[in-house]
Amino acid sequence: MKKVGVIMGGVSSEYEVSLNTGREMLKHLDRSKYEGVPVVIHSREELVDAVKGLDFALLALHGAYGEDGTVQGTLETLGIPYSGSGVLASSLCMDKHLSKTIIRSKGVHTPDWLCLDRLEDLSPEAVEALGYPVMVKPNSGGSSIGMTKVNSSAELRSAVEKAFAADRSVLIEEYTEGQEITCPILGGTLLPVIGIRSLGADWFDYSAKYELGGAEERVIQLPAELEERVHAAALACYQALKCTVYARVDMLVKNGIPYVLEVNTLPGMTGTSLLPRSALAAGYSFSGLLDEIISGSLAERRGMEAAVEKQGVPGIQDVHGEAGIQEVQGVVNYV
Ligand SMILES: Nc1ncnc2c1ncn2[C@@H]1O[C@H](COP(=O)(O)OP(=O)(O)O)[C@@H](O)[C@H]1O
Ligand SMILES: [Mg+2]
Repeated sequence: MKKVGVIMGGVSSEYEVSLNTGREMLKHLDRSKYEGVPVVIHSREELVDAVKGLDFALLALHGAYGEDGTVQGTLETLGIPYSGSGVLASSLCMDKHLSKTIIRSKGVHTPDWLCLDRLEDLSPEAVEALGYPVMVKPNSGGSSIGMTKVNSSAELRSAVEKAFAADRSVLIEEYTEGQEITCPILGGTLLPVIGIRSLGADWFDYSAKYELGGAEERVIQLPAELEERVHAAALACYQALKCTVYARVDMLVKNGIPYVLEVNTLPGMTGTSLLPRSALAAGYSFSGLLDEIISGSLAERRGMEAAVEKQGVPGIQDVHGEAGIQEVQGVVNYV
């Protein structure tokens, strides 16, 4: 039986969300196929010893050091197959400026933006030219942390400072008023699109994402023509950014045109997260979804397994539950 370590926690601002994803994955791993072991990481270097002896690393990490290619690189070095996209796609998608540049070059729409590497480079005139309101965000953030909607030049500098507190580069992006949707992709195939409506908040901020009743999210049926554009944009991003196994593409639809905001390579996988919900609508149980992710990832990383040294993982216990997604009424787990 394959020893599958669920790697969770990490060192990013999304630690708590990662634990939720990890717990849910452990609960739903098919016990007849896998021996699931929780591997909670609190520091970077811990990973190396913690993953020894695993046949497979199921990544439940989000954000920096986890979703950004660094953990993937470590696992490549150790010869341990892992879930999701590889090193390059993970790092590219973590960098909003670079991923927007690439997808735009492929003809995919994304809101206009400026990228700053230093506060001194802030040009109020350039932002004026972009047009208010703008969204100011850390270039490699997640969970809407450090983000501000800025309505006028008076609020600009403090918003940029706040974003710089969270990251080394900052995006100032044209604010796009539109229907928010997200497109989960599994093995290169689009799963049902989910529509998001923030309740109370102007945009999908942290509280809308995670607080009880913060947002309404459901599988939606788009008009055929728009659906085609959305599908084409989602798959173009997935391919251009070299994603593999699974991903989730966030978009805003304005005047019938989908504008891509970002691609998440390790999207949230709690019972109420968007990707599992969409997969459920496509007929996958949570366990079935994990099976697909594991088998797809193993196929992607054929050959790595041979290099795995069996050493056993000390001090970790088994946590298992029943198969199938359990909806927690009203609780929103996004990432
Ligand atoms: N340019 C924009 N115009 C309007 N809303 C935006 C824009 N950028 C981000 N948002 C809102 O902020 C949320 C988080 O932004 P996103 O770029 O996806 O960052 P994160 O990595 O934090 O999820 C989006 O889901 C959307 O609700
Ligand atoms: Mg997002």
